[in-house]
This record gives sequence, structure tokens and C-alpha cells, in this order.
Amino acid sequence: MKALVTGGAGFIGSHLVDKLLEQGHHVICLDNFDPYYDPKIKRENIRHRLDTDNFELVEGDILDKTLLKKIIHDDGIDYIFHNAAQAGIRVSVENPIKPHDINTTGTLNILETSLDSDVKKIINASSSSVYGKAEYLPFDEVHPKTPVSPYGVSKLAAEHYCRVFNEVYGLKTTSLRLFTVYGPRMRPDLAISIFTRRALNNETIEIFGDGNKTRDFTYIDDVVEANMKAIGKGDGEAYNIGSGKRISVIELAEKIIDITQSNPKIIFTDPRKGDAEHTWANIEKAKKELDWEPKYDIHTGLKKYVEYVQRRT
Ligand SMILES: NC(=O)c1ccc[n+]([C@@H]2O[C@H](COP(=O)([O-])OP(=O)(O)OC[C@H]3O[C@@H](n4cnc5c(N)ncnc54)[C@H](O)[C@@H]3O)[C@@H](O)[C@H]2O)c1
Repeated sequence: MKALVTGGAGFIGSHLVDKLLEQGHHVICLDNFDPYYDPKIKRENIRHRLDTDNFELVEGDILDKTLLKKIIHDDGIDYIFHNAAQAGIRVSVENPIKPHDINTTGTLNILETSLDSDVKKIINASSSSVYGKAEYLPFDEVHPKTPVSPYGVSKLAAEHYCRVFNEVYGLKTTSLRLFTVYGPRMRPDLAISIFTRRALNNETIEIFGDGNKTRDFTYIDDVVEANMKAIGKGDGEAYNIGSGKRISVIELAEKIIDITQSNPKIIFTDPRKGDAEHTWANIEKAKKELDWEPKYDIHTGLKKYVEYVQRRT
């Protein structure tokens, strides 16, 4: 298979690159090394692949349709794992145009360019942020979609484009609604990486709000596996990909403190705009239709992640 991983130097994308290369596929990684967080981290994520046979790095933008056409058509891409995005809730609150451009228009570019090509399927990284306000929990896939951030809106629109291109043009797509993903190489702006860094340095951990917001955290290996399962299943559908369990932010901080055997102070500050109150995935649809099941609970995943951070410091 010839695979294109957009955002392939990012957290999730770089793990997909690794998995696909390990399986013997040819992989093109398209990434513009956006400075949202330090691009050196992204270069490091794929550095070990630069000399790997079957790996090609293209530094470029999904908003560049000429480049997309060249890669998708001329290079004969079979599968696209679409992960390039402006992630992050807060940045979307500060600047709603950027996530719209990259996440919505960028996804539309990928879809449109894939028409009349050899592309057999696009697996789109969507987000639990499409749900927003919880009318009931856990969220199943038919739960109303009321995003509470511009980021959530941009991901929901992208997901709709994927579904519509499947229905109207027969281009196979599956969207995976990822619930906060963590693990090695995770983004430095996410709570688990911030709390872990702070705990290991015995620095104060800052919690936005009262700590009672709950989150379903998903270990990176489970997300990679869900992408692999979606290659041959779930056309035109969207699936929740989460652990199926949730914990509160304060419990998360306490778990990290316990695992790191540290003793940092915890302080509570103002809640941030755009953050959902709760996320919690009902994963029955993915279990049944993708034959996928998470292998990591939060404790096992956090231990692995903390070990990874400790090895690197
Ligand atoms: N990490 C999570 O918790 C999480 C949860 C839900 C959904 N997602 C989705 O998963 C995908 C990957 O997220 P991540 O956490 O790995 O983020 P990330 O920021 O680490 O990776 C995204 C990559 O896309 C690249 N990129 C950004 N704009 C681009 C553009 N215009 N053209 C080409 N490349 C571009 C960035 O440089 C980056 O390397 C995103 O679509 C995100 O919305 C992530």
C-alpha cells in the first residue's frame, strides 16, 4: 500500500507513520511543521525515519492544492490517514479562522483532490469535541452535536464533508472521533504532558476550574490500532475512539503525582473558555463494527507515558 499521512510529523501522525512502515507499506508524510508548538519536537518525532526505505517526507501545506494533486495523483496514493490540523481548543478561541482554514477547508481539499484518483479510503482524525454539551453520558455516536469551541465546529464540519463525499461521490471515508489522546510524543499543550512535567520537577500543578470536569483519555497505541481497523471497515461512518472510562481532572493530577511519587502543590485557577464539561465515549459501535477494542486503561497508559518521559530526561 502507498499511504499518505497528513500531519505525519505530529503526535498521532508520527505513530501512524511508524506503524505503516513496520507493516512494510510505502509512506509519504506531509507536514508543514506549523509553529503552534515547537517544530523541533515534530522533527524529532520522525528523525528516526528519515533514512528508512519507503519513507518520504514532504514539507508542505494541505492548503496547497497543487502540491496535494502532485502527491495524491502523481504518486498514486492508496490510503490517506488525515491528521493534519490546527489542534487545541484555546488557540481556536483566540483565532477561529485558522482552525477553520486548516481543519475544514484543508480536509475539503484532501477530499476533493482524492476524487478521480487511486485513493481507496480516507481515514479522518475527528474529535470528541464535536459533541460539546452533554445531554447524556457516555456519548454515543448519535448524541446531538453542539460543539462549544470553534475547534469543535471545524472538526464537525470536516467530518460532515467526509460523510458527504462518501455518500455523494462514493469516496470511501471513515471518521474516528478521538477522545483526548496521550502517550509518547504527545503534544506539550495537553494536560497529561503538562502535569507530568510539573510533577517530575515538583512544580505547582495548575488546574483550570474546580477539577471536576471529566475526560475520557485514550492511549496512543489504541488510536493507531483503530486507524488500522478502519482501513477495511466502517465506510461512511464515524466512530468514538476512547477508553470507555472517564476520570476527573483532579483524579488525573493525583494519579500522576502517585505514579511519579512526587509532591507538587495543586492550585485551581479560572476555567478556560471552550472546554467541554465532560467527555466520555460509548465505544460499542467501534467494538461491533470495527472489531476494535482499547487495550489500555488510564493507569497502565499513564505508567508507560511517565516511564517514557523519565527515560528522556
Ligand atoms: N491529541 C488529541 O488528543 C486529539 C484528540 C482528538 C482529535 N485529534 C486530532 O488528531 C489529529 C492529530 O492531532 P495531534 O494531537 O497529533 O496534533 P499535532 O499538532 O501533534 O499534529 C498535527 C500535525 O499537523 C501539522 N499541520 C498543521 N497544519 C498543517 C497544514 N496546514 N498542512 C500540513 N500539516 C499541517 C502540524 O505541523 C502537526 O505536525 C488532529 O486532526 C487532531 O484534531 C487529536
